Amino acid sequence: MQRFDLIVIGGGPAGYHAALYAAAKGMSVLLAEARALGGVCLNEGCVPTKCFLYSAKMLRHVKEANRYGVVGQEGTPVLDQNAVRLRKNKAVKRLTLGVRNSLKQAGVTVWTERVELQGKSEAGFVVAAGDTEAEGRFVLIATGSSPVILPIEGLAAALERGEAMTSAEALELTEIPARLLVIGGGVIGLEMAAYFAEAGSAVTVAEAAPAIAGRSDADIAARLKKTLTKKGIEFLTSSTLLSVGQGEATIATPEGNRSVVYDKLLLAVGRKPRWEGAGLDRLGVKTERGAVVTDDRMQTNIKGIYAAGDVNGKSMLAHTAYREGEVAVNNMLGDEDRMSYDAIPAVIYTDPEVANVGLTAEEAERQGIAYREVVLPMLYSGRYAAEVADPDAVIRMISDRETGRVLGCHAIGSYAGEYIAQVAAMMTLGTTTKEGAEVVYPHPTVAELIRECLIELNRKESADA
Ligand code: NAI
Repeated sequence: MQRFDLIVIGGGPAGYHAALYAAAKGMSVLLAEARALGGVCLNEGCVPTKCFLYSAKMLRHVKEANRYGVVGQEGTPVLDQNAVRLRKNKAVKRLTLGVRNSLKQAGVTVWTERVELQGKSEAGFVVAAGDTEAEGRFVLIATGSSPVILPIEGLAAALERGEAMTSAEALELTEIPARLLVIGGGVIGLEMAAYFAEAGSAVTVAEAAPAIAGRSDADIAARLKKTLTKKGIEFLTSSTLLSVGQGEATIATPEGNRSVVYDKLLLAVGRKPRWEGAGLDRLGVKTERGAVVTDDRMQTNIKGIYAAGDVNGKSMLAHTAYREGEVAVNNMLGDEDRMSYDAIPAVIYTDPEVANVGLTAEEAERQGIAYREVVLPMLYSGRYAAEVADPDAVIRMISDRETGRVLGCHAIGSYAGEYIAQVAAMMTLGTTTKEGAEVVYPHPTVAELIRECLIELNRKESADA
């Protein structure tokens, strides 16, 4: 039987990153992945979606080129969905090959099979793929998540017929559906709705909550809704899916039941941790509401078994998964490290994109934290004014009145997803707004808006003193 310091079950961002990190720290590592290296993120999630959205952005740029002084085009540009899909496949292949090569170079043993935990052994734990067994001192469960399928009348049959789909199937379409009904106005629903609307579909989004975009700042969610509505997307909020028929679905709206005709229905009502078949029950690994329970060292209730990524249901973002994997490995090695979810940025890659980190003003209010707030139009940035000039784009930042530290930042507008990490860095390092404002930013950049927010917060602090 082969012996390893660490056995990682699952090759998505949590698993492959933790495997590389552990190998770099000198651990011998086995990584088992039954489907595709890179997991949902690389194969049917984050990366493919960004390929699609970039094609949509290119299309819009071509359509609007004359606004920027580009003239003399002929014909009407459209998206060739199959070409978009093939370009996406190329990017996915490049990145998954990159993961494979990195693991190889790092000396990680990769099994492209499903493994199952068998039980405890003297030195740790035993996993098996068929008749082949391996032993690991530590185990990292990184088995990811799968889409939530609502138990709604007619939905299973529509999924079977291929009329209804999850995001994975949407990313394999070779033609743009004329009418797309999206169930769920969260991150996946919005990114998909934005893409297909730009590509030419008539899109309706039904969202159960009164507002779209989940935990986003309320004003920013409203701005996003306004912009996407202008682009032709119809939003039915406080509305849920009641039943699905052939090419027609019934939605319960505040105005009564409404029938929506569709060519494709996209189900995007959340994802749920996936660990079935990994043998967790055999060891008594604790789960709660479907998620593997972990402490802030990422350890489960079983000493030596850790869990990172979507499977623990905490944040369900690839970048959270990377960090959780590192925390798990550090603790296996006896290096004290605790996971914090306070400064995890989240981005919705619509156009305009939305980027969030930390508390919203409403959340600070609810938690009884005294805060200062600043809201600036992105047009304050020279680069933004030169390039995008969207008057609805804003950045909002709040700081703690007592400590002077940044509590959160919420922005809507191009580039927001790129510069939000600077605020996350300040929050992680505990930088005050005064310290942050001493950093020199390149000019003109959109990121300078962060410095502008900090300066404004400092001005308010001085005025209060
Ligand atoms: P989500 O939790 O973001 O949104 C699901 C939405 O569906 C919620 O707004 C919910 O109110 C709504 N909903 C639930 N049941 C409904 C019903 N019966 N009828 C109508 N609406 C209903 O989940 P989503 O968008 O599926 O994404 C799954 C995960 O993937 C999330 O955790 C997200 O963070 C992650 N993700 C992240 C991305 C990013 O970082 N850019 C991109 C895509 C996904």
